Order: sequence, then structure tokens, then C-alpha cells
Amino acid sequence: MRHTYCVSPVKWTASLGGLLDATMTYKRPADRFTKQAKAEGFAARSVYKLEEIDRRVRLFKPGMKVLDLGAAPGSWSQYAAPKVGSKGHVVAVDLVPLRAPMPPHVVSMQLDLLGDRSDLAMYGPFDVVMSDMAPHTSGVAFADAARSEELASIAVDVANEWLKPGGTLVTKVFLGDGFEPLRASMRAIFKEVRVIKPEASRRESVEIFLVGLLRKNQAKPAM
Ligand SMILES: C[S@@+](CC[C@H](N)C(=O)[O-])C[C@H]1O[C@@H](n2cnc3c(N)ncnc32)[C@H](O)[C@@H]1O
Repeated sequence: MRHTYCVSPVKWTASLGGLLDATMTYKRPADRFTKQAKAEGFAARSVYKLEEIDRRVRLFKPGMKVLDLGAAPGSWSQYAAPKVGSKGHVVAVDLVPLRAPMPPHVVSMQLDLLGDRSDLAMYGPFDVVMSDMAPHTSGVAFADAARSEELASIAVDVANEWLKPGGTLVTKVFLGDGFEPLRASMRAIFKEVRVIKPEASRRESVEIFLVGLLRKNQAKPAM
């Protein structure tokens, strides 16, 4: 079985004497999580971020319905699918197709979550909404954080609309000015909000995960 690994190139923009902007791209060397993902057949090293969050807050049970936002290449859905089992469902949504093979109880959808999300209605409500969505980074920290916060606030909106009472939201966000307002918006919906920086999240990365536990109010009924 061949998988493609989510080892994204990093862009560096260097200003040379204020006269010239040079952009260089290099590929990160494989670290232990990348090697482990390859050995265990996962599509991306990000799986170990979810695995740690799951170890700490117990996200999944057999029979649950899970919505995976920003799911490609597919490691989070690969991880969740056996946890919820064939009586559960995973709905995996991304701009691009998944690259990992999935069992039949994983449904994949290609969708821009910044646009019309009404197609989600036919699958909700969910027990867990999880978002690892990330923008294409530009290297300009405040702009990247703003775009990540926009994606995280979409995840909060989707959870507000489609999460069952008692349900859980996990969302990635890049630390920036919008972090505290985002956390406040989650506190309005969840009984508890935790901040987790998993070991597999690179130290130099500004990404962090917000976990909303025990959704307070009623989600929309299934259609
Ligand atoms: C870090 S990757 C997710 C990795 C995935 N969790 C895994 O484990 O394989 C981030 C994903 O967010 C997706 N994404 C970014 N913006 C999106 C949007 N507006 N709608 C849907 N997906 C989006 C990207 O296409 C990309 O596949």
C-alpha cells in the first residue's frame, strides 16, 4: 500500500538589503513521528497529535458519528474509523480528495468549508467534530494566524450547528490576536475548554489545539 505523507515544504522569505525578496523552499527531514506514521501505515504524522488528544480526553466510542474537517490526506479519519467501528460513521471533508484508503463507514466529501456547507446537513448531528484545517502559509505570521483563526471559527460554527449535546470539538488554530476571542466563543458553547499542544506538534510551530468538552445546547435534528 502506498501513502503520501504530509511533510509540507516550508517557505522562507528573506529580504536582501531591502532590495530583493528571495523565497526558498526546503523539505523537512523525517522526524520520529513521520517515520512512525510511515511504519504504521498512516497518511500523515498529524495522526499522533490526535492520538495524544484522544489519550488525554477520550474522544471516541464505538457507534459515534465523527466529522473530520480538513481531513486530507486522511490520517485523522484513519485513526477515528476503527475507534467508532462499523456501527459508527466518519465524514471526512476537505478541499482536496483523501489519499489514504478508507473502510466503508468513512464517507468523504470535497468541499470548501469557507463556502456553502449545507451538504453537511445530510450527515449530522455528530458526537465529535474535529478540525485540523490549515491555510497555505505565507510566512507572514499575523496573516497566517488570521487565516487559521478564520478556519477555526468555521469549525466552531459547524460544531455549534451540528454537534450533539455532550459532544466534543477539537480544532487547530495558530496562535495570534484572534485566539482569545475564539476560546471565548467556545466557552459559550462548551462546559469546558482545554488548550493542548501535543508532543507531535513541532515546537517551532505556532499551532495549538482547542478542545471543547460537553457541548451545552441542542444541535439541529438529523434530516
Ligand atoms: C494539515 S492538513 C490536515 C491533515 C489531516 N488531519 C490528516 O491527518 O491527514 C490541513 C488540511 O486543511 C484543508 N483545508 C484548508 N482550508 C480548507 C477549506 N476552506 N475547506 C476544506 N478544507 C480545507 C487542506 O486542504 C488540508 O488538506
